[in-house]
Amino acid sequence: MNVDLRILRYDPERDKAPHWETYAVAVDPMDRVLDLLIKVKAENDGSLSFRRSCGHGICGSDAMLINGRNRLACRIRVDQLGKKISVAPLPGLPVVKDLIVEMSGFFGKYRSVKPYLINESPEPERERRQSPADRARYDDTTKCILCAACTSACPSFWARPEYVGPAAIVQAHRFIFDSRDEGAAERLEILSDENGVWRCRTIFNCVDACPRGINITRAILEVSSAIVGRRG
Ligand code: SF4
Ligand code: F3S
Ligand code: FES
Repeated sequence: MNVDLRILRYDPERDKAPHWETYAVAVDPMDRVLDLLIKVKAENDGSLSFRRSCGHGICGSDAMLINGRNRLACRIRVDQLGKKISVAPLPGLPVVKDLIVEMSGFFGKYRSVKPYLINESPEPERERRQSPADRARYDDTTKCILCAACTSACPSFWARPEYVGPAAIVQAHRFIFDSRDEGAAERLEILSDENGVWRCRTIFNCVDACPRGINITRAILEVSSAIVGRRG
């Protein structure tokens, strides 16, 4: 079958503004959008630029706006989308070229929440042990692949790009609720500032966008409650 693949193209060295280009692509219904992009790059225009690595929904590098929703290009097939497919870069982030967006601000926010185990206590002789129940406490947020689909779908982030965003809160949650970690107070302090969790208006776009099915809004509410509990 053939599909009309519309791609929002932008080359800062040539174009004044982004513009749509349409390619007629012969496909198999089971092809993924990533396969289509690879085909266009190989057969139509070698300058088409996009990120990808694993091809299997693990690395998080190929999130983009596909038929109006943020998704991973390697996880969505033609038979799920129909014969007209549009692909644009993630919204709300500066475009570097074609489907590649500037991610340094996103990763700066990620780093700002100290997304690593903090524990200054003397090391035990063996590993820091954790019960299955304590491990389950933060299991959902361990699934994040830092694809940015959530943050770039969030209207609160569009309105205020300084907002730390759902992805960084998910990453903070993963450590705040880890029984082996001692950095919760620091992270909750960081997330209680004017660009922290209070910017969330529970709009739920983030949950719809997450390719890992993480209940992001619940994680944000748990972090907010922990901040309130600390003050109380
Ligand atoms: Fe991507 Fe989900 Fe992680 Fe957000 S929470 S960065 S959508 S995997
Ligand atoms: Fe944004 Fe998700 Fe909150 S879309 S407003 S972070 S619930
Ligand atoms: Fe790695 Fe899609 S290429 S998640």
